[in-house]
Amino acid sequence: MTASGQRQHVPETQEYHQGPAGKAAPGPLEIHHQEQPGKAAPGPAEIHHQGQPGRVAPGPAEVQAIVLRGVTVRFPGRDEPSVDGLSLSIPTGQIFGLLGPNGAGKSTLLAVMVGLLTPGSGHVEILGGDPRSQATRRDIGVLDQRTAFYAKLSGRRNLAFAGSLYGYTGKALGRMVDAALELANLEQYAEDPAGSYSGGMARRLAIARALIHDPRLIFLDEPTAGIDAVECAELWRGIQRLPEAGKTVLLTTHDLVEAGDLCDSVAIMRTGRLVTPEPTSPDYLRETYGAMVITIRALGSPALRQQGMAALRSIPEITHLQDTPADGQPGEFVVQATASVKRGIAGQLVTLLAVNGVSILDVDKRMPTLEEVFHELTTGPLKAAR
Ligand SMILES: Nc1ncnc2c1ncn2[C@@H]1O[C@H](COP(=O)(O)OP(=O)(O)OP(=O)(O)O)[C@@H](O)[C@H]1O
Ligand SMILES: [Mg+2]
Repeated sequence: MTASGQRQHVPETQEYHQGPAGKAAPGPLEIHHQEQPGKAAPGPAEIHHQGQPGRVAPGPAEVQAIVLRGVTVRFPGRDEPSVDGLSLSIPTGQIFGLLGPNGAGKSTLLAVMVGLLTPGSGHVEILGGDPRSQATRRDIGVLDQRTAFYAKLSGRRNLAFAGSLYGYTGKALGRMVDAALELANLEQYAEDPAGSYSGGMARRLAIARALIHDPRLIFLDEPTAGIDAVECAELWRGIQRLPEAGKTVLLTTHDLVEAGDLCDSVAIMRTGRLVTPEPTSPDYLRETYGAMVITIRALGSPALRQQGMAALRSIPEITHLQDTPADGQPGEFVVQATASVKRGIAGQLVTLLAVNGVSILDVDKRMPTLEEVFHELTTGPLKAAR
């Protein structure tokens, strides 16, 4: 990316094998690959940035892997900013999930965090330094939404090539390639041409490549998009091992099950802003933002049912309400309500139905799934937190 916000053009060669991932996005891997060991980071003409020019000495600041303050990115010709005054701090040693619907600004924010895109305003600190500095770049690994390899070269040769661009040679390079192959569980396919890999294997190879230089912070943009369940599980196992090795992971995903299972904390983004004020654990998010899902099995004539439902609609804490006919005796129906509060709400629903002449057969309360919370926060009225 350039300071004016254009995407970095990555030349395609005939050797390139386009992986399974969908649309093109900023190409940090390719940028890394074009770097020569020891070569200076892109100059000021390409990137102008606020914040510290280089990496500061490790210290208490590094308890936070990522610190963003008031980051705004506005692409030319677009009315709305793609990232809108966003602030976020992510501690080291965890797996953090950045969630949000298509176009929320996740990849744009990622491009800022890996130093490919300069925000119009705001402060960006990655591992205590500027993401565009050579020192910080060596400490971060990036998996783009797109994966490309030299198709005719083996998986091992692809990784060795990537490692050599970080200045590694000989035995040290061999050890790093072996470690990356092991982590990606690709040892037995290491000598096969990358062009013969399945979509899932290609994605694992791409993750191995992002890790080849043993970075401390890894950005994974939709690591499991378009990959089947078996391959996903394989990838998750690899990702889950990263914090054990002292690494911090930031991933974006549309898969809420993945986020719930994999991430220590998550934040949800919508139209360039966070709709969750702080990164929180998926469970806390479920408790806080989608307090309760209540299901009531009830019995009543169509007129009573209508009256009862009208009464429920007057409760302001109910954010979603629906009633559907149920199999069973005539007049049986099921009410499903999502409430923004927990305390006393189920009782209030039951009482209102009962005073309107509806008989209650059964009441069930449960926490919402992360998917329900996600839906609530990304489709409901916009109450963004900065
Ligand atoms: N180079 C660009 N020029 C103009 N607009 C852009 C550019 N890159 C992204 N955008 C716009 O910025 C917004 C955020 O896009 P971004 O790709 O960051 O979203 P995302 O959350 O990663 O979406 P997805 O889930 O589809 O990957 C979108 O409206 C997109 O159209
Ligand atoms: Mg994206």
